[in-house]
Amino acid sequence: MELAALEKQLRTLQTESTTKIGAASSLADLEELGSSLLGKKGALTDLLRGIGSLSAEDRPKIGALANEVRTAIEAALESRRTVAGAAELSARIANETEDATTPGPLPAFGSLHPIPETISAIGQIMGSFGFTVAEGQEVEDDVTNFQLLNIPEDHPSRDLWDTLYLREPGRLLRTHTSPGQIRTMRAVEPPIRVILPGRCFRYEAVDASHGFEFHQVEGLLVDRGTTLADLKGILDELARGLFGPAARTRFRPGYYPFTEPSVAVDVSWGGSKDGWMTILGAGMVHPIVLENGGIDPETHQGFAFGLGVERIAMLRHGIPDLRALLENDLRMLRGLR
Ligand code: DAH
Repeated sequence: MELAALEKQLRTLQTESTTKIGAASSLADLEELGSSLLGKKGALTDLLRGIGSLSAEDRPKIGALANEVRTAIEAALESRRTVAGAAELSARIANETEDATTPGPLPAFGSLHPIPETISAIGQIMGSFGFTVAEGQEVEDDVTNFQLLNIPEDHPSRDLWDTLYLREPGRLLRTHTSPGQIRTMRAVEPPIRVILPGRCFRYEAVDASHGFEFHQVEGLLVDRGTTLADLKGILDELARGLFGPAARTRFRPGYYPFTEPSVAVDVSWGGSKDGWMTILGAGMVHPIVLENGGIDPETHQGFAFGLGVERIAMLRHGIPDLRALLENDLRMLRGLR
């Protein structure tokens, strides 16, 4: 082959190659072009096979030209690679980009169990009337749970079947939160405004509305000149706070050894499911109980109430069976309104 012809072919290869390279748009295409032009079986190697037929003085000329062509093709590949690589990267970024303004997945929020939820709702309402929260004790003694509350020996709630006695003589699991009244009166000077929430225990057969374990909130106010009207006013506010603005309360005569007079309190919350429901016992603190608490009934009077938390929680959340409150079934807790 002649020198001039080979030179022309090499030049042509260079121009054709750089044109093809300039048109390639992906890194994969460039990779392929690279090996088809410069690889062992590529076009350049192919052309140089003709070098053997050249004269000894022409060979170095072709060698130099071939190097030039190779360098030019490599440079074209490299610069095209940079462009194609950047384009591919920005396309990928554009595809993968997330809209930072779309809301993310919500974390799973827990919620309060209906019992503490109800206790805290009561605490909040009563707190707005100046009542503070105190705690009695779950293990009580016979004296405080019964005797100081003016409960005679033969009172039904003293019956063996109602009370869970501990082995230690005189010790029991409190049957109500009322002994907290005595402990509070003995610990602080009037005026007293306190609520005492807590767990109580009775020896009961368990059914949809009875448990051997349940919660009460005791309320106690002791001041000068306290009357039943004060009790009614506070309980009306409590009912409205718990059941909505249409709720009302009504007093029925009741009997408790530690209050005189004693009332049973019904609540009605208006609306479609209207009806009266007994939610608590209350009354004016019995003078004997005031005295047992170290308070002079001539100068101070008090009202007290004890409400069942489970019943209120069931009404507030539409829970039909009290046992559900003790079972910790998450399906029930999640389904609460
Ligand atoms: N301790 C009573 C019970 O468990 C409830 C009660 C009634 C509490 C009247 C009071 C009250 O403070 O005045 O049945």
